[in-house]
Amino acid sequence: MGLVTEIMKPAQICSSFLLSFIILNAQPKGFLYDELKVNNYKLPDPLICLDGTKVVNSKLWLSKRRPEIINLFEQEVYGQSPSNTIPIRFEVVEEEKGALGGKAIRKQVIIHLGKGEQALAVNLLVYSPQNGKGPAPGFLTINFHGNHTVLSESGILMPTSWVRNRNGIKDNRAREKDRGAAASRWDIDEIINRGYAFATVYYGDIDPDFHDGFNNGPHALFPPQDPSGRKPSDWASIAGWAWGLSRCLDYLEKDSLIDGKRVAVMGHSRLGKTSLWAGATDERFAMVISNNSGCGGAAISRRRFGETVNRINTSFPHWFCDNYKKYNDNEGNCPVDQHMLIALSAPRPVYIASAEEDLWADPTGEFLASLNAEPVYKLFGYAFGATRKPPANQPVHGRIGYHVRKGKHDVTAYDWEQYLNFADKYLK
Ligand code: GCU
Repeated sequence: MGLVTEIMKPAQICSSFLLSFIILNAQPKGFLYDELKVNNYKLPDPLICLDGTKVVNSKLWLSKRRPEIINLFEQEVYGQSPSNTIPIRFEVVEEEKGALGGKAIRKQVIIHLGKGEQALAVNLLVYSPQNGKGPAPGFLTINFHGNHTVLSESGILMPTSWVRNRNGIKDNRAREKDRGAAASRWDIDEIINRGYAFATVYYGDIDPDFHDGFNNGPHALFPPQDPSGRKPSDWASIAGWAWGLSRCLDYLEKDSLIDGKRVAVMGHSRLGKTSLWAGATDERFAMVISNNSGCGGAAISRRRFGETVNRINTSFPHWFCDNYKKYNDNEGNCPVDQHMLIALSAPRPVYIASAEEDLWADPTGEFLASLNAEPVYKLFGYAFGATRKPPANQPVHGRIGYHVRKGKHDVTAYDWEQYLNFADKYLK
């Protein structure tokens, strides 16, 4: 929020207070939104190993500290995803030349995962530039409401899986009338114009977003080995969605129109938490983008600003592994904080985007996590380029990218413009 200074006219002061009041009132009540009230905290040092060894070069980071931090996030935060493989089959159900007014090729691919009753059919929608010179770099994104909501083209398949009841949906089924309903979040036209492919997957095709005791989605494909059931470090939904993104990348690597070595993974909000974890666990992603991911994503948990670990574990008990609940109102005892999650993308380019009015997701905490990830990037000779949080709409594009956009929790054309500029710098 803007500071009130002497040079402001009375009318400006009034509107600034009014804006702060409106923004505050839009946040869930009973949480901290006052920067001055953030308690002191000490972040775990990404460069000090559990046995005290100081990480002084990228080799030690890659061989010792990175695997250690991955393991800590697996044990304590997101849970451990299975490493064994299951049957996977790609069925290209549509290939349409001349989509988007002639400039793109649209493909729809069903990714069949597993066999039998619990098998999943995940539908990936892919637009590639029609007249690209060779395989294109691209963005793999994950959406909230179904592929048919990202664009109003009538041929886009609707999910047959669970969708969230909202805006009049009462039976958890996707509706025709929602075609294109989330189009403002996906600047597909511009992405294609700039020479990139765009792929998107509906998160509910991978794992329905409600707590069913982990009997559906990808968890059903890998029942616990232990007869006594799930362990407190077993994977939960965020890890499930991230695993699904890796399966989508398995397909993109095989698509001749796309350069699988230049795919950025991008998600918003809970799916921004997911894209960060996908990028951490799957180093094939060449770039990682988190849009307004907040608590359990890019924001420092120890700040307890906006959403807290206790609140997220209570509202969404299926997102993180059971061990994460040990840190409810006890963030300081967690051996990791979210700057270390961002650091797991190193040395690949990573982008953290905040929105000014999105106090629930703690924009300052997202910036500070980016800043505290920088020492790891420095081991590879890369810098962030910011030492203080930049003003709204003034992006910083070091090897770590960051901006805080004016406005609310959302994905906008402004955000995409930054991601495209960042990709031009690193993926082209
Ligand atoms: C809730 C939740 C956030 C999450 C967001 C979303 O607001 O508290 O952690 O990011 O939903 O995914 O839309």
